[in-house]
Amino acid sequence: MIGQDLVYAAALLKDNEVVAIPTETVYGLAGNALSEVAVNKIFAAKQRPLSNPLIVHVCDKNMVYTLANEVPNNAKKLIEAFWPGPLTIILPKKNIVPDITTAGLPNVAIRMPEHPLTLELLSKLDFPLAAPSANPFGYISPTKATHVHKQLSGKIPYILDGGACEKGIESTVVGFENGEPVIYRLGALSLEQLKSVVSSSSTKNETNLDVGSPGLLPFHYAPKTRLILTHNIEKELARSNQENIGLLSFSKKISHPKVSLQIVLSSSRNIDEAARKLFDGLHELDALKLPLIIAEYMPENGIGIAMNERLEKAAAKTNLMLA
Ligand code: TXA
Ligand code: MG
Repeated sequence: MIGQDLVYAAALLKDNEVVAIPTETVYGLAGNALSEVAVNKIFAAKQRPLSNPLIVHVCDKNMVYTLANEVPNNAKKLIEAFWPGPLTIILPKKNIVPDITTAGLPNVAIRMPEHPLTLELLSKLDFPLAAPSANPFGYISPTKATHVHKQLSGKIPYILDGGACEKGIESTVVGFENGEPVIYRLGALSLEQLKSVVSSSSTKNETNLDVGSPGLLPFHYAPKTRLILTHNIEKELARSNQENIGLLSFSKKISHPKVSLQIVLSSSRNIDEAARKLFDGLHELDALKLPLIIAEYMPENGIGIAMNERLEKAAAKTNLMLA
């Protein structure tokens, strides 16, 4: 069932059930982060391996101190600058966080999302919400309630509909080594934004802000359709002997007899608009069950870097299937 009934959603969650929730990044599949029963249901509905830890969502910056043992200065600065928002931080966990939530790791991932419905829902609960993206394991993340419904209906009791996600890409995940930030996953918060707060003087060196993500599979975020990622769509079209190709481009409209549907992410070349539409475009093209999707690299700035990483993973699955 899809709706906006916060009282019903809260009652389900208090009863150890799972509920899909909107955030500014993507929809999450939420359950009581402190309850093994609820967290087990999240893993089961997603068919996610128990070795992949979950993000714990809070509605108050101070809740970090009830979940984490140590909060380095750089973490405090990042929280002040970017919460609520698309930043997840990884910190040593307190015992109240069950091992299943962190997949047995000594650290817990924490984020305060920026979505009015979900913040209100959290304020009705006396526990935080564990929530991975609300897609079956390995598939494209949902950015609309209808995406969740298509993928998980029948497996979860309720989807809280908060409209289309404003960012459209998952949060940026940052951990700390000796107090210095290390990026685990680049997402909706850009490298430039991070660097504006934890400047090079407070990072060990540039490579510290490189992406190093343990446990991430090469084919996350993948559609079922074969996908080729290119810098030159026209060349790829000329080379292909497929008909009925789906195209995903940044801004350019292309008409070509081999193309059955094209999605242009931002005709005005606005990278944030393109990010907002990226997963929706992939969902739409994938639903057509075409033989091939050709996608274009996004400009390598701001959120574009994280978008290209998602697209590379979608294309990597194609290569694995061909291998
Ligand atoms: O924007 C988001 O982050 C969305 C919304 C719903 O908040 N959530 C999300 O969750 O994308 P998920 O589970 O799809 O991705 C979380 C990532 C995974 O790559 C996971 O391995 C990593 O965060 N992660 C979570 N806890 C961790 C930990 N304790 N140590 C290292 N990585 C962790
Ligand atoms: Mg995910």
